[in-house]
Amino acid sequence: MPDTVPPQIAERARWLREEIERHNYNYYVLDRPTIPDADWDRLFAELRALEAQYPQLATPDSPTQRIGAPPRADLAAVRHAVPMLSIRSETDATAQAAYAFDARIRRELGLSVKDPPVEYSAELKFDGLAINLRYEEGVLVLGATRGDGMTGEDVTANVRTIRQIPLRLHTPQPPPVVEVRGEVFIRREDFERLNAQLQAQGEAPYVNPRNTAAGSVRQLDPAVTARRPLSFFAYGIGEVVGWELPPTHSALLDQLARWGVPVNDLRAVVYGGQGLAAYYQRIITLRQHLPFDIDGVVYKVNALAWQQRLGFVTREPRWACAHKFPPQEATTTVLDIEVQVGRTGAITPVARLAPVFVGGATITNATLHNEDEVRRKDVRIGDTVIVRRAGDVIPEIVGVVLERRPPHTQPFRMPSRCPVCGSRIERPEGEAVARCTGGLYCPAQRKQALLHFASRRALDIEGLGEKLVDQLVDSGLVRDPSDLFKLDVPTLAALERMGEKSAANLVAAIARAKETTLERFIYALGIRHVGESTARDLARHFGSLDALMAADEAALLQVPDVGPVVAASILRFFAEPQNRQVIGKLRAAGLRWPEGGPQSARACGPLTGKTFVLTGTLPGMTRQEAAARIEAAGGRVSETVSKKTDYVVAGADPGSKLLRARELGVPVLDAEAFKRLLEG
Ligand code: IVH
Repeated sequence: MPDTVPPQIAERARWLREEIERHNYNYYVLDRPTIPDADWDRLFAELRALEAQYPQLATPDSPTQRIGAPPRADLAAVRHAVPMLSIRSETDATAQAAYAFDARIRRELGLSVKDPPVEYSAELKFDGLAINLRYEEGVLVLGATRGDGMTGEDVTANVRTIRQIPLRLHTPQPPPVVEVRGEVFIRREDFERLNAQLQAQGEAPYVNPRNTAAGSVRQLDPAVTARRPLSFFAYGIGEVVGWELPPTHSALLDQLARWGVPVNDLRAVVYGGQGLAAYYQRIITLRQHLPFDIDGVVYKVNALAWQQRLGFVTREPRWACAHKFPPQEATTTVLDIEVQVGRTGAITPVARLAPVFVGGATITNATLHNEDEVRRKDVRIGDTVIVRRAGDVIPEIVGVVLERRPPHTQPFRMPSRCPVCGSRIERPEGEAVARCTGGLYCPAQRKQALLHFASRRALDIEGLGEKLVDQLVDSGLVRDPSDLFKLDVPTLAALERMGEKSAANLVAAIARAKETTLERFIYALGIRHVGESTARDLARHFGSLDALMAADEAALLQVPDVGPVVAASILRFFAEPQNRQVIGKLRAAGLRWPEGGPQSARACGPLTGKTFVLTGTLPGMTRQEAAARIEAAGGRVSETVSKKTDYVVAGADPGSKLLRARELGVPVLDAEAFKRLLEG
């Protein structure tokens, strides 16, 4: 071993270490790589070569040490400098627990009603394995599991393989000692990919992300840990030497983030029981969109001085509590499997279930999506199944409990005829979904089409609800949307549960709907894949219905956000004689909208060609105003975040669109930045 390292080599190695770690941070923490993978590989190879030549360069904080440390016979025990506590858990899955916690804190702090609301740090409760990361002079020197809270296991070599965990804290200068505490976990997508790999190799899949994360960290061979897609979020600290702590827990987490430690940004500073309860509700609705599992939220008194004053009971701090979510899974039995017909004729198998309480509601049916899905899961009538209801998503069947399958069950078979109209069911080559071929002839599709036609953002016919549509279609009064305009008061008043007055109101509402806009009309037609924003783009681009109806594929592809699938669907719709006939009848009935030339409405301005997606509330501006200002400056507003989105504007309480933007690396503007952009 050459015993001295030339200074320029040492300098180069230092530079490489920092550069690689910086790119690791961009890639694994920010999800925003700034160099191609091949360049990263080159940097890494160069560092490895230098370290091979001068082994003294292979410092513990070198990115090369993230892989390949030798396996060990067992995990050594380490005593925690500061015990790793657990937190008291509220299983009362109503917002009530949030108020109860706040009341307890106020009582224990001796606050009266006159005192202002208590400030809290509200956070996600990650579902993984707790670990302690000890940094000395900014360098990761020890990683330990929680163990019994006093003594854990030394998993240093394993945590070094987790790319999201910095081996060295970033500047500003970290203190001589700081212990970072947080959770190692696996993202759902990574978990599914890992299981797919295992299954492809003929191995048994893992049960859930949490156990897999825990098992992976406690591996004896770090090379195994290195192959597992582990993630990390910090939520607190342990021992600290030589650092004057900030006044609040939230500021402490901000500092960890500045040091390059991943800290989740769905945390919030909130006030009083009301603030906690609102946070709880918000996270419940976001939960299903998160890329990882959580089992609740955690509330912490934000002021560290107050935390100290509140202290601990046995091994739980009085200043924190976990608020669990209702369980999302339960078992029940399948009473029947039926098929439903959608507005576009899509046939969806649905399992009728023995009622079961799950995810905060009683469910009696669960979608089976399509034929392949039923076959894959092999769900049969009589089966005991695990159902999952996540937030407001449609309940799903996770799987069958095969041990409890009764004898003589039959695999599900898709019916060959539509249960509503008896037309043939067809499944186009290469498509997952089977469809009823009955079109507007099929009452199921007719009813749905009418409801869509009359819906608020289409022709907005007030008072035309589900019950009435059922009556109108079943009585044969309405076969397609144009028949609506023939209805008169006496006919309507003769219907069951319909008075003279409501009949008159409805007739007036229908008459009002004749005066509409081209974009509403296009949207109202219910063309597959043509939602509100596509309808708006089509209306703007073509300027008139005739121009749209005459457009060929090439012309349609000119429209923003219209790709081959949407174009094909539009062409198919207008090629259908029945649809053209209905449009003709609607025009004859007196439906009107202003028509301009192509692109007439599109302004030219500083935002021309830019696509925006709005989420959350902006101070002093409604969503409609924000959209109008973007459009006035030449930009467009879209509903969904995609790679084509130029900016996501995130106001207060943003939704899943913000998460999606982060995933795709779409730039996010806050209210301030958005205003600056508008002002050019
Ligand atoms: S704070 C003294 N915050 O939940 C307070 N814990 O018993 C220490 N957990 O196993 C915990 N997310 O690993 C805290 N945002 C969060 C958390 C969190 C998950 C885990 C933690 C521990 C358990 C609490």
